[in-house]
Amino acid sequence: MTEITIQTPDDWHLHFRDGDMLQETVPATARCFNRAIVMPNLVPPVTNATMVNEYRDRILAARPEGSAFEPLMVLYLTNDTSKQDIIDAKAAGTIAAKLYPAGATTNSDAAVKALDALFPIFEEMEKQGMLLLIHGEVTDNHIDIFDREKEFIDRNLSRIVAAFPTLKIVFEHITTKDAVEFVLAAGDNVAATITPQHLLLNRNDLLVGGVRPHNYCLPVLKRNIHQQALREVVATGNKKFFLGTDSAPHEKDKKESACGCAGCYSAWSALELYTQVFDELDALDKLEGFASHHGADFYGLPRNEGSVTLVKEDWTIPESIELPNGHDIVPFFGGQTCSWKIKS
Ligand code: NCD
Ligand code: ZN
Repeated sequence: MTEITIQTPDDWHLHFRDGDMLQETVPATARCFNRAIVMPNLVPPVTNATMVNEYRDRILAARPEGSAFEPLMVLYLTNDTSKQDIIDAKAAGTIAAKLYPAGATTNSDAAVKALDALFPIFEEMEKQGMLLLIHGEVTDNHIDIFDREKEFIDRNLSRIVAAFPTLKIVFEHITTKDAVEFVLAAGDNVAATITPQHLLLNRNDLLVGGVRPHNYCLPVLKRNIHQQALREVVATGNKKFFLGTDSAPHEKDKKESACGCAGCYSAWSALELYTQVFDELDALDKLEGFASHHGADFYGLPRNEGSVTLVKEDWTIPESIELPNGHDIVPFFGGQTCSWKIKS
């Protein structure tokens, strides 16, 4: 196959950031996605309905002329989140709340330190029909970074899932065979997003031949058997797995640093790279479900109108993009070839 048309897709996990950066990130996503789940890990984080409304307005103001792109807003959970915060956020059109274990990733210091204390909040979310999105990694110093996702499943996620059988839970950016197996075995209220980097790469791509900071994200890339498990499950077309790029921009000098930031900025090439992966897997017929149907169906939202056509044609992803503030950013897969392209 050298051309494929899919219903207009959505991105179920990304980071737009704020301020000037929105002039870069919102058009990059709106070029091919109709909606996106916008992560709330700003500084300070988006912790109440007022902040959600103000952030949504700033995103809408950054849309390209004529774009109908719709940001789907998310509340950032902390140990100070109250039931009233959930009720107010829901009334303000907030679709989900995000659980970050404190210290797990970029801008998560203010997040959840005592998980059990949040169970009454999950109960309110279940009642309100608000989804729970989870960054599934423990943060204990003594747990090896490559084992943190599995440890989170065993210690925490299995308990949350057992306690709230009708709460819709998205296990975000899964990276391991263990996570795939957990999601497959769970009820229909549990699903997962998968990023392009975790389908395309494994930890050798981070560490062999030199440290590659632009492939560094959290959860960190795992060994190839885990990458393989993710690739196998998307190729089956299972409806529990859907597209979430986790596009997460950091300026070049913050990535190429003695203590580099975690995050891959993939918005300009993610849909094309996913298509490349599905092609490699001989599963192009499963791309539309993953990119355009499973997420909307799980969230209980209508599928999009319209379509996007991709053609099999090599192009080189730019090595650098200039941001509105004059700084540079290196996009994910910068300088490398992608074998699929959006037909203009
Ligand atoms: C994200 C970021 O930079 O905000 N980084 C990342 O490596 N994925 C946060 C996150 O989703 O973990
Ligand atoms: Zn993320």
